[in-house]
Amino acid sequence: MKRGYQGSPSGPPQSRLKPNPEGDGFLDDEGTRRQARKVADHYSARTNQTLEEREASPIIHLKKLNNWIKSVLIQLYARRGDVVLDLACGKGGDLIKWDKARIGYYVGIDIAEGSIEDCRTRYNGDADQHQRRNKFSFPARLLCGDCFEARLDIELAEDSPFDICSCQFALHYSWSTEARARRALANISALLRPGGILIGTMPDANVIVKKLREAEGLQFGNSVYWIRFDEDHADKKFKASSPFGIRYKFHLEDAVDCPEWVVPFHVFKSLAEEVRITFWLFLICIADASPSRHELIPGVEFVLGTLSPDEWEVAYLYLAFVLRKVSHVCVNSAFLSAIR
Ligand SMILES: C[S@@+](CC[C@H](N)C(=O)[O-])C[C@H]1O[C@@H](n2cnc3c(N)ncnc32)[C@H](O)[C@@H]1O
Repeated sequence: MKRGYQGSPSGPPQSRLKPNPEGDGFLDDEGTRRQARKVADHYSARTNQTLEEREASPIIHLKKLNNWIKSVLIQLYARRGDVVLDLACGKGGDLIKWDKARIGYYVGIDIAEGSIEDCRTRYNGDADQHQRRNKFSFPARLLCGDCFEARLDIELAEDSPFDICSCQFALHYSWSTEARARRALANISALLRPGGILIGTMPDANVIVKKLREAEGLQFGNSVYWIRFDEDHADKKFKASSPFGIRYKFHLEDAVDCPEWVVPFHVFKSLAEEVRITFWLFLICIADASPSRHELIPGVEFVLGTLSPDEWEVAYLYLAFVLRKVSHVCVNSAFLSAIR
């Protein structure tokens, strides 16, 4: 199994947006890499929890809701035999979900060495803790690397094309610079087959900015999370010409404690369209996903109803999205309704 790889030999894709005059250039600089390392170190250091520790977590119901949303996305969009790319796969928390969808092949990549090790252990079966189930029914390749810097089309040339790409609770880490955001989307587009699907979840910039503006200072949150912007954003205004590198510190009890970046949704949408990834379905907010719809999906356990108000507030920070790689940049609604 491969471990680690080189960065892009060529430059990032060309920009149609104006560069950020404050310094977010098109190439990764040391500062950007340091931030990516900080994120990687944070996730790498997170140890696997025992079942008891997990159940005692102050955000256990939120974790279950997030897992349920991911299960729904996977059950709705993955098909038997699919070749799957899991970008920022973490510790492999979705492996069982993919197994239930009867996929044919799985490639998981994450920047955090510790997470990939845990993912590998989970996939191979851990004699101590995780061996209560049979082996996974699909072959897998697990790699450690930066999905938002490396040329994955080169690295994964032999594994592609993929039928479905999943990027759960991670795409916002690509938004530290325009180059990284574009690299993330270029990688996804290059690896998906035409008609292939991108499913994902990430924080909703509109909710975060609204909460920031409602807050007295630059921080807001509750008993389970806080978000803090630094003084650069004291006026709480964000220039349309600089939609990258808008950093905040995110703390979520028992889960996250690292820098994250605001992803203005319209910019995400237009950058994705530039590389032929168009919106198919956009679930505005994962907390708003109607349980009644999802009870209809066989094999997806229903877990709502037990979140605390503070956990609900966190759930409302996130959105889920479904996009599709098309053959041409311009799509019309007749085409959209004819597919899948
Ligand atoms: C909140 S966790 C989500 C993990 C997994 N997708 C899930 O839903 O369980 C975010 C993940 O993104 C990964 N990540 C952050 N930046 C990354 C990058 N540049 N390349 C690859 N993975 C990255 C982290 O290491 C972490 O595992």
